Amino acid sequence: MTTFTTRRFLQSLGLLAVGTLLAACGKKEAETPPPAEAPAAVAAASAAPPPPAKVYVVGTDAAYAPFELQNEKGEIVGLTIDIVSAVAQKAGIEVKFVNTPWEGIFNSLQQGDRDMLASSITITDERKQTMDFTNPYFDAYQLIAVKENSKVAKFDDLKKLKVGVQTGTTGDEAVTKLLGKNSTAIKRFESTPLALKELEAGGVDAVVADNGVVVNYVTNNAGAKFKTVSDKAFVPEQYGFAVKKGNTELLEKLNKGLADIKADGTYDQIYAKYFGAPAAAAPAMAASK
Ligand code: ARG
Repeated sequence: MTTFTTRRFLQSLGLLAVGTLLAACGKKEAETPPPAEAPAAVAAASAAPPPPAKVYVVGTDAAYAPFELQNEKGEIVGLTIDIVSAVAQKAGIEVKFVNTPWEGIFNSLQQGDRDMLASSITITDERKQTMDFTNPYFDAYQLIAVKENSKVAKFDDLKKLKVGVQTGTTGDEAVTKLLGKNSTAIKRFESTPLALKELEAGGVDAVVADNGVVVNYVTNNAGAKFKTVSDKAFVPEQYGFAVKKGNTELLEKLNKGLADIKADGTYDQIYAKYFGAPAAAAPAMAASK
């Protein structure tokens, strides 16, 4: 009897324990039901920390005010940076700007050191063979900078002069075409500001570079006593962002973001911040024409 009672007692304890356990489970399940449509594996995966978002590395030659430059704190700023940041926000991607010398910039894209280039790069047929470009985001043309007292009145007048350009730019291409491939009168510089400094010092008679940068320099360096000369011989240019050939995924995101900031007024706001008037209302740098 004692034995029976003890066994019954223990048995009932066991039953109680199992019952309590079941009740507890039932309760827990009732409190946090797994999402009906989520298989266990997916639920487990979502509990793990999310993989870090990809940060797209943007190469830019930040010696090109007002487009891309370094401020006093060494931060990369400018119109290009504002546009890319706005595009990235629309596209839902993260970007990081890395100062990249112009001379190695296209190679850095090829090598995969940069995911994209945003550096006032003119879209050309030749460049299109080795990289892909977004839709254009800015219009430009070549402009001649000379000293105020210079007699230069047109591009052709540079034929007998020493001309400074930034190596490998469309300005370099134009001057090379005019003066000839082997001309020793072409002085090539690592950056456009360096070429303009040399004009100031008298080492060259003229500089040919993108209008926006030339006008910005002339305006902010009144002491240099420069003037600008435009010529219809220069073909219209358009800037685009470059991605590695075949990177359609990034290209599509950028084009979509670009279309979005043009549609909602963000692009015009950024443009006005640097040039004072909406892109559609006034041609860039009209004053220099
Ligand atoms: N638009 C010209 C070109 O594509 C010059 C661009 C130079 N950009 C710069 N950040 N240095 O050749």
